[in-house]
Amino acid sequence: TDSSKITLGDGKDVKGTRVRVFGRVHRERKQSKVLFITLRDGYGYMQVVLTGKLAETYDALTLTRETSMEIFGELRQVPEGAHAPNNRELHADFYKIPQIWKAAGGDDAITNRVSQNTDNQAQLLDLRHLTLRGETASKVLIVRDAVEFAFNQVYKEMRLRKVSPPALVQTQVEGGSTLFEFNYYNEKAYLTQSSQLYLETCLPAMGDVYCIEKSFRAEKSLTRRHLAEYTHVEAELDYINFEDLLNHLEEVMCRVLEVTMSDPTIKQHIMDLNPNFQTPSRPFMRMKYSDAITWLNEHNIPNEEGKPHEFGDDIAEAAERRMTDEINRPIFLTHFPAHIKAFYMLKDPNDPRVTESVDCLMPNVGEIVGGSMRMDDNEELMAAFAREGIDPSTYYWYTDQRKYGSSPHGGYGLGLERYLAWLCNQHTVRDCCLYPRYFGRCKP
Ligand code: 4AD
Ligand code: MG
Repeated sequence: TDSSKITLGDGKDVKGTRVRVFGRVHRERKQSKVLFITLRDGYGYMQVVLTGKLAETYDALTLTRETSMEIFGELRQVPEGAHAPNNRELHADFYKIPQIWKAAGGDDAITNRVSQNTDNQAQLLDLRHLTLRGETASKVLIVRDAVEFAFNQVYKEMRLRKVSPPALVQTQVEGGSTLFEFNYYNEKAYLTQSSQLYLETCLPAMGDVYCIEKSFRAEKSLTRRHLAEYTHVEAELDYINFEDLLNHLEEVMCRVLEVTMSDPTIKQHIMDLNPNFQTPSRPFMRMKYSDAITWLNEHNIPNEEGKPHEFGDDIAEAAERRMTDEINRPIFLTHFPAHIKAFYMLKDPNDPRVTESVDCLMPNVGEIVGGSMRMDDNEELMAAFAREGIDPSTYYWYTDQRKYGSSPHGGYGLGLERYLAWLCNQHTVRDCCLYPRYFGRCKP
């Protein structure tokens, strides 16, 4: 009956009872006449023991890994050292394998990919639909689900409301060079780079808002941390100052971590992936851009031209990461010069050379969040458009925001894949999404 059906992760209290499980053959090994199968179903792994006739008939089928099975049997406790998941084994008394559940035989090259037994990166990525069944890949994706859920929970606790802005737009947010342009019923349109401008328009209607949507960037370089399509967690807060923004961001990052870690399975996955993980201590370090320039020069870390950094230089990815790895804790890097940042950022009233802007930098990754206070004066915004050579007419809905009840407000965007690269200690953001899209890759 169905009541005996359990998933491979649950049923701590069903030892000694007869159960029914489904799963795929993750691994198998034969020891004299006993067959040990590690079964996988996405919720966990279970060791299954086949003896006697069952082992012989299974053997005769010459099945390959990844074959699906339905198995009946009794769950028994095994000692700690036996290397069985959850210290238990299913002693099978019956199994079923419909013909079409059998994984293609004789092609271990494919099933080997599941455990990523190759160093051919392009091939691994072509076979992402199979490699994501592997232990590391699936753990990262399961943690990702938990993190996304935690963001939703934490934002709800903080009374932010979720909205869903459009992905097809006619305005740029983060500079024209990374726009994906397409033909929209014979009009020029783009895939959105950020939902920020739309979030700003929601403030008067709904109060503080957030969204978790895709953003798109036509990045033309291959790096560890750039995707063409990524998941962007963005929030916008009304009637705040820059200090409020920084405090909110720190609170969100720490609460999300707390909520994520409160699930023991997820915490275990994170510790498996990132054994040296340590919860960041609060308050986060705050460092002004101008102090970062000094820090880089004191540590002989040159700019992109190999020269000492000067005020006004963009801090390149390599330099940023060296600084973050050296300091080895989260950094709020603030007050960037206006000309290296986006048009909408508010100037610092105490130093008009710089903006009330923040990047959150994490060890191993560098920038994972970018945010700022927004220009709330329409005249100033118009001047910024002119400086950037942007035609303001397509932004009428954004400038109306300033005309009809402007307010001091600000927000930020967090790259979910970069956050996961930090949390799960992954070398690249490509391993932190389901099917990565980046320069030169649009499959599977
Ligand atoms: O710093 P960015 O460009 O800022 C914005 O888009 C703001 N409009 C967000 C806002 O204030 N609502 O992007 C924000 C974050 C980066 O810190 C990074 O984590 C991520 O988005 N990001 C990317 N992640 C993967 N691949 C890319 N090509 C990314 N570009 C940005
Ligand atoms: Mg940025």
